[in-house]
Amino acid sequence: MAGIQGKNAIVTGGAGGIGRGIALAFARAGAAVAVVDIKGSEAESVAAEIVRSGRKAHAVQCDVADSVSVKRMVGQARSSLGSIDILVNNAAIMDRALFLESDMAVFDRLMAVNVRGPFECSIEVGKVMAASGGGVILNVTSVEDERGILTSGVSYTTSKGAQKAMVASSAVHLAPMKIRVVGLAPGMVPSGLNENNPRGERSRIIEGRPGKVEEIAAAAVFLVSDDASYINGTTLYVDGGWTATL
Ligand SMILES: NC(=O)c1ccc[n+]([C@@H]2O[C@H](COP(=O)([O-])OP(=O)(O)OC[C@H]3O[C@@H](n4cnc5c(N)ncnc54)[C@H](O)[C@@H]3O)[C@@H](O)[C@H]2O)c1
Repeated sequence: MAGIQGKNAIVTGGAGGIGRGIALAFARAGAAVAVVDIKGSEAESVAAEIVRSGRKAHAVQCDVADSVSVKRMVGQARSSLGSIDILVNNAAIMDRALFLESDMAVFDRLMAVNVRGPFECSIEVGKVMAASGGGVILNVTSVEDERGILTSGVSYTTSKGAQKAMVASSAVHLAPMKIRVVGLAPGMVPSGLNENNPRGERSRIIEGRPGKVEEIAAAAVFLVSDDASYINGTTLYVDGGWTATL
């Protein structure tokens, strides 16, 4: 197994939920991690937890929807890690509004975080990776990236569909620079965005239970490692079989 020992990774939204799980799993697998989040003190806590376990981590406060913040974050991550081999675009926000009651200001902010954020982070980190011979970008999408289901608002589903398209399209554009781009679509994970989901559709999950953060993180470790070197431009559904029923 090639693994990710010795690699340097950025995980956006690394302060909580699935992002924290991915940051911890990357560290356990031997990677140094820049824990990036809009919540700076929570990011510090996750980085400190990793450092206490004897691994390398740094916290970087960043709003992925803001260009100045993203550029500063990439500069800080680069100077603390040395190089960047892996970017995980995980930070996202949710809107559960019924479609006809959608607020366009909420829509604009959601698109800025969930679509503009990964788009610009991929560009800025992609430049660093291209200059150093390559890397891997992982977008955390969702089972809702191409299906309409009542568990969340149309704006969120639309943003996740855009992220999935970004995986395929940016993989094509970045392949000449030896940058691989993959997607990971979690099903229902009762943490973070889905902690208080009033309309969760558990009956569709053929495993009969929600997923665990650790199960999503394990797939992330595999997808960004060279063990997944022939997986490019596509999205892996880690959803307990949910999409098989749709
Ligand atoms: N939990 C689920 O069931 C589920 C299902 C499918 C997909 N996902 C996806 O997994 C990812 C993580 O979701 P989660 O459930 O762990 O949510 P979460 O709310 O626990 O984590 C999201 C993190 O992103 C951070 N963040 C929010 N806005 C930011 C910004 N502008 N800049 C930087 N950081 C920001 C938050 O502070 C938070 O730490 C998301 O991309 C989500 O769409 C989650």
